[in-house]
Amino acid sequence: MHLRLTRSIVRSWTNEDLASLVKHADNRKIWLNLRDRFPHPYTRRDGRDFIHLARSQRPETMFAIEVDGEAAGGIGFVPHTDVERVSAEIGYWLGEPFWGRGIVTEALVAVTKHALDTHHLTRVFALPYARNTASCRVLEKAGYVLEARLRRSAIKDGEIIDQMQYAFVAPE
Ligand SMILES: CC(C)(COP(=O)(O)OP(=O)(O)OC[C@H]1O[C@@H](n2cnc3c(N)ncnc32)[C@H](O)[C@@H]1OP(=O)(O)O)[C@@H](O)C(=O)NCCC(=O)NCCS
Repeated sequence: MHLRLTRSIVRSWTNEDLASLVKHADNRKIWLNLRDRFPHPYTRRDGRDFIHLARSQRPETMFAIEVDGEAAGGIGFVPHTDVERVSAEIGYWLGEPFWGRGIVTEALVAVTKHALDTHHLTRVFALPYARNTASCRVLEKAGYVLEARLRRSAIKDGEIIDQMQYAFVAPE
C-alpha cells in the first residue's frame, strides 16, 4: 500500500525502516499510551520481528507513517472475527518530534476509509485511555464518535484506568 497524503505517506513497512522505527518507538511516553504488547524498551529485535510480521500479513493491516523521508510512526487495524468480522480496532502512534502537526489525524482518516473499503467493514473503533486527550482529540477530528467510557477496564503501568470507546460507523 502507498497512500500519499499532504502531511505524510502511509505505506507498507520495509526492512530499511528498522533504524527509524526503533529510534521513534523506543519512547516511554508512547508506550504509556499503548497496549503492553508494544514493547518497552523497544529493541532492534522487537523492530525486526514487527516489520517481519507486518510484511507477512495478507491483506496488510499495519502501515508505516512516513514523514520527511523516514518511518515516523505506525498505524494499523485488527479485523475482528466470527459475528464481529464487520468490525476492526484501529491503533496508531507517532514519534515525539512529529507530534502536533495534524499528521495522525490525516492518516487516521485515510486508513479508516481504506479499512472500511477493502475489508467490507461497517465499523472501525478505538479504545484510547481516558487520560490520552491528544488521541481522543485526533479521533474526534477524524469523525469518530464517543460511545462509552469503559470504567476501570484496563491496567497500564500498574494503574487501573478508564478507556474511551470511539467508533466510526459507515453509513448504511
Ligand atoms: C496521540 C498521537 C497519535 C497524536 O498524533 P499527532 O499527529 O500529534 O496528532 P494531531 O496533530 O493530528 O492532533 C493532536 C490534537 O491533540 C491536541 N493535543 C495534543 N496534546 C494534548 C493535550 N495534552 N491535551 C489536549 N489536547 C492535546 C492537539 O492540540 C491537536 O488538536 P487540535 O488540532 O485541535 O489542536 C501522538 O501524540 C502519539 O503517538 N502519542 C503516543 C501514542 C498514542 O497515544 N497512540 C494512540 C493510542 S489510542
